[in-house]
Amino acid sequence: MMFKRHLGLRLFVAIGALLAANRLVAAQTGQAAPKPYTVENGKVDKKTFNGWRRYTESCLRCHGPDGAGSSYAPSLVDSVKHMTQDQFNEIVVNGRKNVTTASESVMPPFGTVEDVMNYLDDIWAYLKARADGVLGRGRPPRIGD
Ligand code: HEC
Repeated sequence: MMFKRHLGLRLFVAIGALLAANRLVAAQTGQAAPKPYTVENGKVDKKTFNGWRRYTESCLRCHGPDGAGSSYAPSLVDSVKHMTQDQFNEIVVNGRKNVTTASESVMPPFGTVEDVMNYLDDIWAYLKARADGVLGRGRPPRIGD
């Protein structure tokens, strides 16, 4: 019992140290994880703007304005904080049905909707900018506007 606990703790500490070392190397070499969006003085690049546009067209009616969520569907601004882009894409392509709740909630599949499939990266970029707190609500101004 004691032995296992200590082993677990040592492993935990070792992994922590490894992760910290990795971050240090990243910081020293200037390789911060690249952001999928560009926001300068509250203005966004074309990609992020298009993400807002596509979100508004295809997702807002359930997920609420600005990704903030509604009584029917969750806040995607919160969702993208805890999921990878692959997980996000998978759900948007295939949809999801939650049958455990009393009232069935359904995320429709968008796999055949070109206006969404062609711009998954843009929608992700927009939601990440919102999640990182660098972009407010509403229609974002474009760089160069
Ligand atoms: C018809 C309503 C509807 C539309 C339109 C819709 N969604 Fe959803 N979405 C839902 C519901 C309801 C859920 C929760 C499903 C569940 O409970 O499993 C959901 C869940 C999700 C999730 C998983 C969230 C999480 O935290 O697990 C993602 C990602 C998502 N939607 C992305 C999108 C995107 C991107 C669009 C626009 C292209 C979109 N949705 C359009 C209703 C919708």
